[in-house]
Amino acid sequence: MSKLTVFDHPLIQHKLTIIRDKRVGTKEFREIVDEIASLMAYEVTRDLPTMDVEVETPVAKTTKKTLAGKKLAIVPILRAGLGMVDGIMKLIPAARIGHIGMYRDEKSLEPVEYFVKLPEDIDQREVLVVDPMLATGGSAIMAIDALKKRGAKTIKLITIVSAPIGVENVQAAHPDVDIFTAGLDDELNEEGYIVPGLGDAGDRLFGTR
Ligand code: PRP
Ligand code: URA
Repeated sequence: MSKLTVFDHPLIQHKLTIIRDKRVGTKEFREIVDEIASLMAYEVTRDLPTMDVEVETPVAKTTKKTLAGKKLAIVPILRAGLGMVDGIMKLIPAARIGHIGMYRDEKSLEPVEYFVKLPEDIDQREVLVVDPMLATGGSAIMAIDALKKRGAKTIKLITIVSAPIGVENVQAAHPDVDIFTAGLDDELNEEGYIVPGLGDAGDRLFGTR
């Protein structure tokens, strides 16, 4: 069974509470999603392997740590996942970006895939799938299916708000994919929205509706 990590860091919790407020407008919502994504990326990358390298400081030669091993790819699920990319890129500027376009049919709540474009060497990269919302889990499961079909082997899922049923469904479909979230909420309502959640993340990020 994959691991679920719920970040209890005070800064992450504080910022998440701000964006839950329905009075928060697009500009502030977008800025804070970006900040939360950076803070989460710091923790998600804690287990990246390092190796020793020689470095010559102005004072002496020494051997210190640098990142080793797998390179990273960030894969947002469009649209809302785009809001998390820049925040992660600030910490991992060399990461490649893939895109998976997916929307949830408003009636059936089933995800519909409309776009997939990934780095060619996706099979050799650790993949961070990002989407602020994990509701039924359908979109994340389909996105991870699409990645595995194209060779991705090491995948982590990073979300800001998750419903317990979404976590359960992703863990059942992809037991090898660890999930990182800032908020594990109560349930879904009849329209498939996370309760209490923060509403429609894509609409709040991009000012649509
Ligand atoms: C939202 C959200 C997830 C999905 C979660 O996207 O960003 O991708 O719903 O729901 P699920 O877990 O039940 O699949 P939406 O379909 O609203 O598209 P958008 O990002 O373009 O707004
Ligand atoms: N997608 C969202 O943007 N919000 C939800 O609460 C559920 C799915």
